[in-house]
Amino acid sequence: MDINRVEVYLDNQDEPIAVLDQPPFVLELDPSKLEVGTHYLIAVVHYQDGSMDHHEYVFDVERKGAIYAGHVSRAPVTTPIEVRMVDRVEIESPVKPDFVRYGLLPLVLFLILAGTAAWLAVVGEKPVPGGVLAAGGKVEAPKAPAGGAGAAAATVDGKALYEKHCASCHQANGQGMPPTFPALAGNDRLADAEYVIDVVLHGKPGTAMPPFGNTLSDEEAAALISYIRTAWGNDYGPVTADEVARLR
Ligand code: HEC
Repeated sequence: MDINRVEVYLDNQDEPIAVLDQPPFVLELDPSKLEVGTHYLIAVVHYQDGSMDHHEYVFDVERKGAIYAGHVSRAPVTTPIEVRMVDRVEIESPVKPDFVRYGLLPLVLFLILAGTAAWLAVVGEKPVPGGVLAAGGKVEAPKAPAGGAGAAAATVDGKALYEKHCASCHQANGQGMPPTFPALAGNDRLADAEYVIDVVLHGKPGTAMPPFGNTLSDEEAAALISYIRTAWGNDYGPVTADEVARLR
């Protein structure tokens, strides 16, 4: 059936914001002219034979800094008109609009690359001889031997190492994100010290569990593993740097 015209009403306004009287029936909306939030459009279609019907659209307008964006969240399945949101940059923005819109992508890529490089630098850190890598990557001299062989391990903060290397997957509270990342809290497989040391040093090939043998010294691995075996109510006891060294 031929369309005579389409009147488009915005929210509760009495007057149509647009009257489209020839195809293509496309309505372009500029989100920067609309308030942030949810809006409704009613398209009233008048056909040549005098009959009418109407279609309802729902769309949202967001504003991030100088950039306005809108998207249609609900549109009729079949409709004679198309509603397009034209994302806009605020006119008084001090930066050239195209730069703002297309300058973001390189910036985001740069941040990802910089982040990855920083991460690799941290992961690639080798233990410094005679010193112990502390949480922030700073080198601390081992404390004066107070309790013999175990003294060096005592200066390593297993909890901080856990939070740095493991918490992204297994979570700071040890609950993991099952089924993808297993919980370490209340996990009986941690009772087997050799198993845990092996998994931490060599990872689990073919899974997302990475090896940490090149990242952690014997003392660090021992402190970290002792932490996960005794934290969050776990009661599996500590391990020593010697046990770690034996399984390398
Ligand atoms: C990138 C995510 C990720 C990181 C980081 C990570 N893990 Fe894992 N870990 C996994 C996954 C996935 C598994 C399960 C592997 C499988 O399918 O058996 C796992 C398994 C384990 C297991 C064996 C659990 C079991 O039930 O058999 C232990 C122990 C473990 N991780 C400890 C650690 C420690 C300690 C660290 C930090 C030094 C760490 N993980 C860092 C993803 C990770």
